[in-house]
Amino acid sequence: MPASERPLPPAATVRCADRIAGLFPPGAVAFELSGDGDPAALHPLESREVEGSILRRRQQFAAGRACAKAALAELGMAGHALCAGPDRKPCWPAGAVGSISHTHAYCVAVAAPAARFRALGIDVEIVARVSARIREHIATPAERAWLETLGTDALALAGALLFSAKEAYYKCWSGAGGNILYFQDVELHAVDFAGGSFLVRLTAGRAHAIVPPMPAGGRFAVADGRVTCGVAAPAP
Ligand SMILES: CC(C)(COP(=O)(O)OP(=O)(O)OC[C@H]1O[C@@H](n2cnc3c(N)ncnc32)[C@H](O)[C@@H]1OP(=O)(O)O)[C@@H](O)C(=O)NCCC(=O)NCCS
Repeated sequence: MPASERPLPPAATVRCADRIAGLFPPGAVAFELSGDGDPAALHPLESREVEGSILRRRQQFAAGRACAKAALAELGMAGHALCAGPDRKPCWPAGAVGSISHTHAYCVAVAAPAARFRALGIDVEIVARVSARIREHIATPAERAWLETLGTDALALAGALLFSAKEAYYKCWSGAGGNILYFQDVELHAVDFAGGSFLVRLTAGRAHAIVPPMPAGGRFAVADGRVTCGVAAPAP
């Protein structure tokens, strides 16, 4: 039977993820999904966003929408289609902000009232997938010097943390109206592994100032071989 005619396995269901919501200040809610999303559950306007994409991408997109819409429903905002802007940034309904991230067969989304937050950023990475080559690419010279001081296990976690923290920071920055940033534009300059927090600074160059300025850090958690980072910009 051709792959296109094979029935899809049952779609996984979303779960409330208080541990992930705890990476953000009070007011944020998070939902996660282990497994594949169900493209048939997408709103027609959302389906259009991934028309022509391979099944894997449609499942991933559907997983993100399922988590995000569960979070919106928890905030009393059920029934919204969550389309994407030209840059893939989700168009959250008026009154809400949020963020979505996926890795292989896992997805998480966070949402919160816009009255409390200007933007949120979440990112999840599989620790084992952030290779030495990726670390080399994403780390600034100061971060590389820090990585060189670490033993093997701490190095793997620190590499994944660098990746995830920069992406979470970028998503929050972008949601708050910031311009495109690349890995060398964002630098971690303090990590508290025991407390699960990190501080970030923008390196000279590409970042345009945004007003009010973004907070300079975020929180992270490690579980099931994944690191998840959260960054929140409070409402002005
Ligand atoms: C936003 C971005 C970081 C997401 O990375 P990714 O590897 O696809 O990883 P994730 O699965 O964690 O996140 C994807 C989700 O982020 C969200 N997203 C995409 N662009 C976004 C943006 N500009 N702002 C906020 N969220 C965004 C979407 O919800 C997307 O999922 P969807 O398309 O299914 O809706 C990446 O696509 C991007 O734009 N990169 C350029 C900038 C960058 O990477 N800088 C390095 C860090 S400073």
